[in-house]
Amino acid sequence: MATSFLSIEGLTQKYPSPESGELTVFENLNFKVNKGEFISIIGHSGCGKSTILNVLAGLDEASSGAVIMEGREVSGPSLDRGVVFQNYSLLPWLSALRNVTFAVESRYSEWSTEQVNEHAMKYLSLVGLSGGVEHRKPAQLSGGMRQRVSIARAFATQPKLLLLDEPFGALDALTRGTIQDELLKIWAGTNQTVFMITHDVDEAIYLSDRILLMSNGPYAKVAESVEIEIERPRSRSSIVNDQLYYDIRNHLVHFLTTRSKEFSELSSEQAKDLPKNIRLSQEQPSKPKLLAS
Ligand SMILES: Nc1ncnc2c1ncn2[C@@H]1O[C@H](COP(=O)(O)OP(=O)(O)OP(=O)(O)O)[C@@H](O)[C@H]1O
Ligand SMILES: [Mg+2]
Repeated sequence: MATSFLSIEGLTQKYPSPESGELTVFENLNFKVNKGEFISIIGHSGCGKSTILNVLAGLDEASSGAVIMEGREVSGPSLDRGVVFQNYSLLPWLSALRNVTFAVESRYSEWSTEQVNEHAMKYLSLVGLSGGVEHRKPAQLSGGMRQRVSIARAFATQPKLLLLDEPFGALDALTRGTIQDELLKIWAGTNQTVFMITHDVDEAIYLSDRILLMSNGPYAKVAESVEIEIERPRSRSSIVNDQLYYDIRNHLVHFLTTRSKEFSELSSEQAKDLPKNIRLSQEQPSKPKLLAS
């Protein structure tokens, strides 16, 4: 049994709201993440995914509850937690390369300038940004390129916990596939723990050990934790021949289209044992089904 690396305990977030006085985005979230796990979270827009990620990063403070990482309560940001933001937040006055070296220098202050540059270029090349583009400022890069700089920056600092907020959203399908595979290679070689927000169920299944399903807000809950017991290493061509892949996909799509609304009506008492742990591989082998749209 792996040790619990990250523990989210009774997390609740409320914001002042002009319409209702107070908005409870989510309430009493409880879940754990093991060291080295790749966890994704899926839920409808506005349910509070980025808010959770910001609390995990130490950039936002929850109204109540706690985040415990390696036995210590998270308070404030740390180089142990690297973030790829939904809007890729780069420093606009620095080149792509300097955006990465700036972070690498803070992490590895004992390194020489050559070491820092070489390390930063390794990660920029991995995301396809070399040959001169690395000297451009963010305003001179496309949205997808900016997102790739942000990914390179987070990976290059080799944090214990990588927090990724829709990291591949602005990328074309081909680049997205390549960078997903690079992420898997880095993850497999480093024992890093990854917490990723995505809207893409196929991406979540392909990458994750476990997918957390978040119900609609307000009063959103982490309703289910779905184990992805598809053998690794995974490949896009073989995964589509695996019945388990379709069973999981159907389960996720059905949750998002139908069941995610139902949880908002549960009382705190009814919701106290969530998330429910789901292992689809234990169910009876199912007949091939049409995918829910
Ligand atoms: N600083 C804030 N002040 C007030 N309300 C906020 C604040 N930050 C977020 N919210 C509200 O909290 C809710 C959750 O926002 P959040 O950005 O976490 O959603 P999300 O699940 O990441 O959505 P998306 O999938 O669209 O990125 C929204 O209703 C949003 O308006
Ligand atoms: Mg978000």
